[in-house]
Amino acid sequence: MATTIETQSVDQMGGPGSVLARQRRDHAEMDRLMDRYRALEDGTERERVLKQVVQLVFSHAFAEETVLWPAVRRAVADGEELTSRVEEEHQEINDLVTDIERLEPGTAEREEKVTQVFALIRQDIRDEEDLVLPRLQEALDAARLRRLGAAWETVRRSAPTHPHPGVPRRPPGNAVLGVPLSLYDRLRDGLGLGVSGPWGRRILSGLVGLLVSGAVAAIVRKRR
Ligand SMILES: [Fe+2]
Ligand SMILES: [Fe+2]
Repeated sequence: MATTIETQSVDQMGGPGSVLARQRRDHAEMDRLMDRYRALEDGTERERVLKQVVQLVFSHAFAEETVLWPAVRRAVADGEELTSRVEEEHQEINDLVTDIERLEPGTAEREEKVTQVFALIRQDIRDEEDLVLPRLQEALDAARLRRLGAAWETVRRSAPTHPHPGVPRRPPGNAVLGVPLSLYDRLRDGLGLGVSGPWGRRILSGLVGLLVSGAVAAIVRKRR
């Protein structure tokens, strides 16, 4: 009988390198950061923590969608239904964070959206730890859970760190577009460009436009 990974020991989950243990560590960090945001009053520090939440959540979810959910669909009988549910949650998180990044910090409307997105992130964590990951654990042995963990981690480390409306949630579209989008996001993070930096945004948008069109052309060529 599948049981939540919330209360399992690291050994039960297949060791620290298993995808289950890696997921739970990231989820705990998201939880810690969201609590820290709530506890803070200073605007600058709060914004920094919110940015950390967004970067962690988006790189984590991108690696789930490109590596983990396809593995669940291959290994678990009702994998399609289970992964559709978490993909819908990811889409809602994507939409809310897109709005948050457009709104002025400190406004009531933005705070309301932050509250909504934190609740959704927590719901997504519960669905993964209680429903999806235990089913994957039933289907794969510890060695395969560790191999999947290594693959998930590799993608996560170079994944996009912000929402991108319109990018498909499933491979191959998300995987191909992920490369230029990740570069765009990481340049943006590294340069410390807020959404209010019009010139930086314009230059980076031009760059990503070129890269995305190159990636789309590559997909079209491959399919022919
Ligand atoms: Fe997760
Ligand atoms: Fe998720």
